[in-house]
Amino acid sequence: MIGGKHYGKCVYNDDFKPILEEIVQADGLIFGSPIYFFEVTGNMRCLLERLFFPFWVYDNETDSLAPKRMPIGFIYTMNLTEDEAKEMGLDYFISKNDFIFETLFRKPYDLCSYDTYQFSDYSKYKSDNFDEKHKREVRETQFPKDLEAAFEMGSKIARDALLK
Ligand SMILES: Cc1cc2nc3c(=O)[nH]c(=O)nc-3n(C[C@H](O)[C@H](O)[C@H](O)COP(=O)(O)O)c2cc1C
Repeated sequence: MIGGKHYGKCVYNDDFKPILEEIVQADGLIFGSPIYFFEVTGNMRCLLERLFFPFWVYDNETDSLAPKRMPIGFIYTMNLTEDEAKEMGLDYFISKNDFIFETLFRKPYDLCSYDTYQFSDYSKYKSDNFDEKHKREVRETQFPKDLEAAFEMGSKIARDALLK
């Protein structure tokens, strides 16, 4: 409610509230979630809803009540290949997330790690859909590059935080 004691603040007085208050004062934020059933995990979704809603206003200017617009990164990991993810509309899902972040804070740097090595031992699971040899190759050749890209993302966020 405009002018109310909870305006721009979370109404829930639980253990998470003080953590949320620290999160929104951070110089930079990096989120990471595996893709579960074409979405971020339920836990990440809960965090995002708590983070977004206090600052969301229903007006045409798409204002934000957030106290800071810090640089943000979001890392998504998934079994799907890049082509499969595109076909399944993951881009659209990520762009919606980006839109909300951009409205309230800042547009995130996004990083997707595709074709992940899901099981430590594929022979122990019914997983005919996957070519373990291919998955291992991706793990050995592409995954280290993804880690490098994550490092680069962290550097950009630190640089942006210093520039303000
Ligand atoms: C419950 C569950 C649901 C999943 N759903 C998807 C999915 O919809 N699409 C996908 O690409 N991967 C899916 N995965 C695979 C995970 O995204 C993948 O294992 C994870 O990104 C690998 O990261 P990790 O090495 O940190 O576990 C799912 C995994 C689990 C456990």
